[in-house]
Amino acid sequence: MTKLLLRALAGEAVWPPPVWLMRQAGRYLPEYRAVRAQAGDFVSLCTNPELATEVTLQPLRRFGMDAAILFSDILMLPWALGQDLRFKAGEGPVLSPLHGWADLERLAQRRLPQAIAPILETVGRVRAAMEGAMGDAALIGFAGGPFTVACYMVEGGGSKDFAAVRGMAFQQPVLFRRLMDLLTESTIAFLAAQIAAGVEAVMLFDSWAGILSPSLFRAHVIAPTRRIVTDLRARHPKLPVIGFPRLAGLLLGEYARDTGVQAVGLDTAADPSVARAMLADGIALQGNLDPLALLVGGAALREETAGILSAMRGRPFIFNLGHGIMPGTPPEHVAELVRMVRAA
Ligand code: CP3
Repeated sequence: MTKLLLRALAGEAVWPPPVWLMRQAGRYLPEYRAVRAQAGDFVSLCTNPELATEVTLQPLRRFGMDAAILFSDILMLPWALGQDLRFKAGEGPVLSPLHGWADLERLAQRRLPQAIAPILETVGRVRAAMEGAMGDAALIGFAGGPFTVACYMVEGGGSKDFAAVRGMAFQQPVLFRRLMDLLTESTIAFLAAQIAAGVEAVMLFDSWAGILSPSLFRAHVIAPTRRIVTDLRARHPKLPVIGFPRLAGLLLGEYARDTGVQAVGLDTAADPSVARAMLADGIALQGNLDPLALLVGGAALREETAGILSAMRGRPFIFNLGHGIMPGTPPEHVAELVRMVRAA
């Protein structure tokens, strides 16, 4: 196995570590903005294999990252299940909120394969393009963590505290559990299809995991993640799964142990040394530079990067951010970061 990312995910302390960045394809790149303008709306971009392939590969061409991540969105799953989805400029996603049993049963009747076909075609095209020119980079597929996807589905968009979804989990536990089961099962189907189409690792973005109480975290983050990991690994024993339970804090150790993930993405607030001590040696860590340090650059970027690298030396590790790249980030800062990591 020569791909650095896959070696790190298999538990090898590769040094210097492989590097890629969450949201590495996005608005901070002028070449992304050009394709985005051509596609029209965001959902059209995600479902256009030619354009989605192009934007997936852009950061690899420019920076030589060790991984590409499929260009799509965690909300393409509810979209594929039939929920209305639009992305409003400057406002983020807008969905028709899911209120009760009737909304849920309508989504549960929808068959996934047809809707996700263009996304799977993108996976195949990206893999084919990478094999020649970018032979050492690995392709990562992804889905949202079921709880995080439920947050947007129930709320109908972003929120600062996602009170509606937490309220539903407490007040309508049977309905909420049915929603979580539907999402867990369709996430398994979606990720298995991405693997069959050619992704070499998968990541679960559970961005809002940290807003739950410990008991709900166990029920709606750890338990569905364990089901997803167990099912995918039964079909593909070597396929690595990266979990990203953002803001899990003290529950990070329990998450890693009980879900069976091969790697854990650390958010910006996680202390790398503490996380390293909390998680078993064979589990790879990924993260966790503050995206703002990357945006401002200079001493902040150099010092924060050096601190993370020195805390992670000797450990299976993948350099990344603690959350996605911010739109105003100068691309030269990303190039400088990749140089620093490669010089570690
Ligand atoms: O490069 C990559 O990382 C791959 C593609 C990717 C996108 N979104 C593209 C995208 C991935 C892995 C995601 C994950 C995602 N999407 C998450 C989890 C990670 C996180 O950031 O917490 C979440 C919560 C979403 C939902 C989402 N998508 C929101 C809230 C927004 C609006 C906010 C924003 O940044 O605009 C999006 C839109 C989105 N997804 C964009 C991109 C490049 C920007 C859309 C545009 O071009 O206008």
